[in-house]
Amino acid sequence: MDRFIIQGGRPLRGTVQISGSKNAALPMMAASLVASGPLQLNQVPDLADVRTLAALLQSLGVESERHAGNIVLNCVDNHSCRADYELVRRMRASICVLGPLLAKRRKAIVSLPGGCNIGHRPIDLHLMGLRALGAQIQIENGYVIASAGRLKGAKISLGGDQGSTVTGTCNVMTAACLATGTTVIDSAACEPEVVDLGNLLIAMGARIEGLGTSQLVIDGVEDLSGATHTVIPDRIEAATLMIAAAITHGEITIENVRADHLTAVSEILGQMGVSMAWGSNDCRITLSGPLQPVECQAVPYPGFPTDVQAQLTALLCLTFGQSTVTDKVFPSRFMHVSELLRMGANIRRDGDSAFISGVTSLSGAHVMASDLRASAALVLAALAARGETVIHRIYHLDRGYEQLELKLQSLGASVERSPDTVA
Ligand code: UD1
Repeated sequence: MDRFIIQGGRPLRGTVQISGSKNAALPMMAASLVASGPLQLNQVPDLADVRTLAALLQSLGVESERHAGNIVLNCVDNHSCRADYELVRRMRASICVLGPLLAKRRKAIVSLPGGCNIGHRPIDLHLMGLRALGAQIQIENGYVIASAGRLKGAKISLGGDQGSTVTGTCNVMTAACLATGTTVIDSAACEPEVVDLGNLLIAMGARIEGLGTSQLVIDGVEDLSGATHTVIPDRIEAATLMIAAAITHGEITIENVRADHLTAVSEILGQMGVSMAWGSNDCRITLSGPLQPVECQAVPYPGFPTDVQAQLTALLCLTFGQSTVTDKVFPSRFMHVSELLRMGANIRRDGDSAFISGVTSLSGAHVMASDLRASAALVLAALAARGETVIHRIYHLDRGYEQLELKLQSLGASVERSPDTVA
């Protein structure tokens, strides 16, 4: 296991490229299970989660080859239907093979993903949607065991108490592409990653309408071909680096970004006094005056993303005044709070909210990364803190940020990776 050692207090300066989106790439890779020809995905980030899914797909008969930023996936053996615990437990998003396996191979045995640090994460909506398409599903010995004849189009609502489900929408949408007749998905997730997957499926021959809205209408087809597609830029990485510029009082340009995917993030940062100059494919971020406190709610897209909640909290720790951050998507996603407190932050957590009183400075400390975005929040806090911060268990970061330390170093940060002695 590795750790990061960060010397804080250096304003970031320079230009950095945003990688392709992890959360878009994963369900697209799983779509190779329904493709009857090779799938070429461009701009796939080289991350632990991507490698985990490639290994899982290999166990399901899909060969993958990486050439620089591109991956070509080719299904050469349709026999296996079993996604083992050993691989699925490493990454919850492995569940995105369920819908494709069921639609194409008529059978899927997929380990239940299990718990995770950001709270209870059920898959009941995935199962409800696939059952509505005609699948028989049982849970046995920790596995989802699903079978079906050819799936049949149906009217389905994927809304839950916390909004719609992103990977659930990906699963049901992909499966419905090969069903007979028409499927209508209400309360579908509108996230750009769902739209990107839909666009890939359309390039493969699927007939989908309503992408980016809460109602998807899918007319099933007999077969889906291979295709070539470029994955959208990672809006969460972009938001993290925007906050990195603000928290260090720096001035950076991020390239390969989509302003339309970052509207809610820009709105909150704008209210806080962060200046953003958007070009067609880039954004220059600067901070001229003092930061202003805000009230922010993480909600489904197009609202403020839960995946940026922890990073924003880190910035608000250094924003004079009282701020509130509420997470309506994952109400227990506050593992970063106790570590930020160890760095001198003043935060009170109550239910799904964190009440933050800005302090004038944070101080370096040993802190423990607990999940992907909480780890990013600790990196941001460390970049601004006085002195040295050691972040343990950064394998969480390696799951979702491509070459983060190299990117930060190129912007002038002092970030060093070294083997960890703390278990
Ligand atoms: C995806 C993202 C994750 C992001 C999240 C919310 C991927 C690989 N991961 O996760 O980074 O934080 O969307 O934007 O794309 N729920 C149910 N029943 C279900 C499924 C979900 O109640 O069957 C609840 C969840 O507990 C949560 C909410 O719905 O409260 C949203 O979860 P969901 O959109 O499914 O998250 P993921 O797709 O797992």
